[in-house]
Amino acid sequence: MRIDVITLFPDFIENCARIGVVGRARERGLLQIATWNPRDFATDNYRSADDRCYGGGPGMVMMIDPLRKALDEARAAAGPTEAKVIYLSPQGKRLDQAKVVELAKLDHLILLSGRYEGVDERFLERAVDEEISIGDYVLSGGELAAAIVIDAVGRLQQGVLNDATSAEQDSFSNGLLDCPHYTRPEHHEWGDVPAVLTSGDHAAIARWRLKQSLGRTWLRRPDLLERVELDKKSRALLVE
Ligand code: ADE
Repeated sequence: MRIDVITLFPDFIENCARIGVVGRARERGLLQIATWNPRDFATDNYRSADDRCYGGGPGMVMMIDPLRKALDEARAAAGPTEAKVIYLSPQGKRLDQAKVVELAKLDHLILLSGRYEGVDERFLERAVDEEISIGDYVLSGGELAAAIVIDAVGRLQQGVLNDATSAEQDSFSNGLLDCPHYTRPEHHEWGDVPAVLTSGDHAAIARWRLKQSLGRTWLRRPDLLERVELDKKSRALLVE
């Protein structure tokens, strides 16, 4: 998969995309990431990519043409793939794991991180396919949001995670929150590891984990339960 990011702070994205799972995925050629700075496509001596807002008011708005040129360059560099263009903004639809899974299946994503008051609406109307928010709060720019999309989508690429099942065991992959996890020591002054986890009984462990997930979801995020549809294997575990 290829992800291009249009941003006034390419270093931010480059640094984030160098470390951890995403960094390794890039090194192994499973994920390609490139950044494009609209300032590089400005036509004045100040490398302006933003201007004052029509109608007055504080703040600056990102201009159409530097963004358009950055987008054209990103498309040209990627070759003849069909790209989905996403603008990260608090006005967008809230990102969830179902959306992440959908985006992870694409060959090419172009993310636009806004700064200042936002982006000229005409650019959004003509060049952007979708607007996505990472939550109901306002960041000073879309770079953190783009980094979140890159991480969530990147780790789902084929071959990125070592253990083939670890993405399937994620919170939200079955619509539920994750169960608790423990490691050594088994006995500690702060508590013991639940006995079932050291029993070697794989069915009992799976049942315990599912029950923990259901219980946590019920207590912490009951809203999620409305949409949960357990698969056959999970339903069988619960009635055993
Ligand atoms: N840019 C600023 N705030 C944001 C948010 N909540 N989600 C995505 N992009 C943003």
